[in-house]
Amino acid sequence: MVWFSSPSDATTRLGEVGYLADPATATTAFLAGALEKPLLVEGPAGVGKTELAKAVSRATGADLVRLQCYEGLDEARALYEWNYKKQLLRIQAANDGQAWEETHDDIFSEEFLLTRPLLTAIRRSEPTVLLIDEVDKTDVEVEGLLLEVLSDFQVTIPELGTVAATRRPFVVLTSNASRELSEAVKRRCLYLHLDYPDTERERAIVTSQVPDLDDKVATQLVSAVARLRDLELKKAPSIAETVDWARTLLALHIDDLDAMAIDDTLGVVLKHASDTDRAVRELKLR
Ligand SMILES: Nc1ncnc2c1ncn2[C@@H]1O[C@H](COP(=O)(O)OP(=O)(O)OP(=O)(O)O)[C@@H](O)[C@H]1O
Ligand SMILES: [Mg+2]
Repeated sequence: MVWFSSPSDATTRLGEVGYLADPATATTAFLAGALEKPLLVEGPAGVGKTELAKAVSRATGADLVRLQCYEGLDEARALYEWNYKKQLLRIQAANDGQAWEETHDDIFSEEFLLTRPLLTAIRRSEPTVLLIDEVDKTDVEVEGLLLEVLSDFQVTIPELGTVAATRRPFVVLTSNASRELSEAVKRRCLYLHLDYPDTERERAIVTSQVPDLDDKVATQLVSAVARLRDLELKKAPSIAETVDWARTLLALHIDDLDAMAIDDTLGVVLKHASDTDRAVRELKLR
């Protein structure tokens, strides 16, 4: 399958589904498809890592299969597990005369398998985007599981054998870099570092999502957000918060984002009291 025919094709088609990619993002998305390599996207919260995978799925018409990572995620939740209850029922229902071997072969068959996102994505014959979201939240052991999937696009189930992908999914892994991923995982991926967009791109994102926002306010808004991001806050405003702020200004009919208007609506973008104090002080809002 041809995912994107060129970097500029990626820019155009991602743009058509509402994702405004910078040149590095578009090029990497194109390459991930062309080389059939997993794409590791790293960066701070709310810069569009998860959204990129969703946008690729929308732009290409491929279904999205998502594995949400968290601490304690294990093989049974990520790959597959046997349906114990059903197996037990099957064993109980077996005739007394039935040989154990026969029952054994029976209960370790397809019918008793519960597939989880990684196996689901590998087995699908339709085009698939596999999103492995927030991979840095898992324990290191899970990376071992991922390796087989990411390098060979296959999964081994001891009782059933090896399941190889008939069609390679477009794989996107996202990470906040809360811990370093293993070199083995990184080596198998293309790498993209996403950061906050420049003011021009952020303005374009805001106006595409909140088209009714006044031009002047949009410009004031993205420059206010850029100033806030320069402040070394506990939690810098994300793109999602910029968009929320735009909706807020629209709802309040604010047509000039002056110091007072910023002060009144700061709660939409800053979620820590110490960050608010700092912003008020440094931007001289009061
Ligand atoms: N390039 C972009 N074009 C359009 N919208 C964007 C873009 N980047 C981010 N957004 C907007 O920002 C929102 C947040 O992005 P997303 O959920 O992908 O963040 P994230 O990087 O996955 O953050 P987290 O680390 O918190 O999961 C998206 O819902 C989308 O509306
Ligand atoms: Mg995310």
